[in-house]
Amino acid sequence: GKNLTRLNNGSEMPMLGFGAVLETDVVDFNETYTHAWQAGYRLYDTASSYGNQIALGKWLKSLDCKREDYWLTSKVAQYEQGYKETLSAFEKTLKELQTDYLDLYLIHWPKEKTFFETWKALEHLYDEGLVRAIGVSNFEANHLDRLLTKAKIVPAVDQLETHPYFSNHVTHAYLKKLGIQHQAWSPLGHKGAELNDPTLEKLAQKYNKTIAQIILRWQYQNGVATIPKSTNAQRQRENIDIFDWQLTAADIESIDLLQKGERVMGAPDANYSEDKW
Ligand code: A2P
Repeated sequence: GKNLTRLNNGSEMPMLGFGAVLETDVVDFNETYTHAWQAGYRLYDTASSYGNQIALGKWLKSLDCKREDYWLTSKVAQYEQGYKETLSAFEKTLKELQTDYLDLYLIHWPKEKTFFETWKALEHLYDEGLVRAIGVSNFEANHLDRLLTKAKIVPAVDQLETHPYFSNHVTHAYLKKLGIQHQAWSPLGHKGAELNDPTLEKLAQKYNKTIAQIILRWQYQNGVATIPKSTNAQRQRENIDIFDWQLTAADIESIDLLQKGERVMGAPDANYSEDKW
């Protein structure tokens, strides 16, 4: 289908998936995910550090479908990095998610001293057939360069902060060269800044779409996989309804120009330095 991307190992990943709902104590956690399923989402993103894997696992277990009907991504946390540590973290993650394999397992943040060992563990899990694809998150060019000096397997995916005010275009170009699929986290930006942007507002009016749809379609046309999250059924449907219309090249470019290097979080090295973990 047109909304799948073929990763460098041949796996076919949905270009658009459902970002993690972290609030497991909301009474309607199951309902939220059921609405997402009904809206058509077939990729579910989570991470060991999100604290929602047990709830997500219960919901997944309740689904009346085959395991291969959906894609499941998780991530090894900073405090789980290292070879042995990653292998046991993975086991715990499988147990929590009540599954016997993951479609994608990522190193959540580049922790300098351990990412080689962590990567080696991911390669092992891949070789064992316990993960269909392995990748990284928040790795910029310098981290990838170092990882690739020792990696046997090139990461299939790099999940990065990506939205109009922080398009990560330089890393995007580098990933393209390396054959790594760029996937966006916080695709809609933060605190509604982009959702009130006048340029995006004009485009929304022009195409008779919402600003969120314009942003997600821009990512799709730029070859960026994305994982919008919404707890609202209407907005969930809106966010996945981006595949039967398109932006012109000129309009894509006008969104590219909104880039101003404005992150919602600090840079990977600044925010996730050794001494924080
Ligand atoms: P809501 O869940 O009420 O829809 P994050 O960047 O942490 O993934 O959060 C995404 C944020 O964007 C949430 O606050 C979510 O709120 C909001 N959001 C998701 N989809 C839309 C949309 N289509 N229009 C406006 N806000 C949205």
